[in-house]
Amino acid sequence: MTRTIAVANQKGGVGKTTTAVNLSACLAEKGKQVLLIDLDPQGNATSGAGHNPDEVEKTIYNVFLGGISLKDVIRTSKVSGLDVVPANVLLSAADIAFASDIARPFLLRNAMRKTTTAALVHYEFIVIDCPPNLGLLTQNALVAAGELIIPVDARYYSVVGINILAGMVREIEEKLDHHVELLGILVNMFDRTTTHHNAILEMLKQTYGSKVFQTIITRNIDLSDAEANHMPITLFAPKSSGCRNYQTLAEELLALSEMAPSSS
Ligand SMILES: Nc1ncnc2c1ncn2[C@@H]1O[C@H](COP(=O)(O)OP(=O)(O)OP(=O)(O)O)[C@@H](O)[C@H]1O
Ligand SMILES: [Mg+2]
Repeated sequence: MTRTIAVANQKGGVGKTTTAVNLSACLAEKGKQVLLIDLDPQGNATSGAGHNPDEVEKTIYNVFLGGISLKDVIRTSKVSGLDVVPANVLLSAADIAFASDIARPFLLRNAMRKTTTAALVHYEFIVIDCPPNLGLLTQNALVAAGELIIPVDARYYSVVGINILAGMVREIEEKLDHHVELLGILVNMFDRTTTHHNAILEMLKQTYGSKVFQTIITRNIDLSDAEANHMPITLFAPKSSGCRNYQTLAEELLALSEMAPSSS
């Protein structure tokens, strides 16, 4: 069964895309079939998976507009087992284009359901990269996903931000009757030598207990260099600490039993 995982946080620059791309690549490296869906008009996950967002012909936005199926926009990547559904800046028009559409929170879920089951069923993981806001696109990701990863940086306002996102998850549950299981909060850009970072980590563990991933992603320049070179870390710097961190995260995720039914 496919596990559909949204990577979300309304705060910008906390490592959503870095996590979506590199976790997907590490799962693929472990022999899993993975589909990475870029749901951010910035197109950073598209780029991280090796495709130029400005040059891709069809994107997730074309699927939302209709007449083209999700399976028709799937692209392969240089990582065996990792495919990608691209996005680019045109997706930023979605808010206005679907403003009066009664099914607006269900655009992605419906696209996934309409795509012939055979086209998606062989993916063991679908990972969705979200934009830095709680608007229509993040809402669509949460409605399409069964599970959620929240990457955070080790700063005070990250803790506050989690509550706001958790509020949206509750609202989706109450008003749209869809449950998304919090798979884990992922501490990123961590520096063990910084007292403040350690204090925030402690605070997160006290508040969210086992929902904080044991794996911590430390600050590692290879991760940003991989991004600049449009490559997952598994290809760019397989021996780096950043790669090791994401491999460990993939192992932790695989060890966690499936906690939520996927809606794909
Ligand atoms: N652990 C890390 N070590 C070093 N650099 C990192 C790390 N994680 C992310 N970065 C870098 O920080 C920047 C922000 O990361 P990323 O783009 O993944 O965040 P984001 O949450 O997806 O941002 P946005 O909200 O704009 O979509 C990028 O340049 C990325 O390469
Ligand atoms: Mg991003």
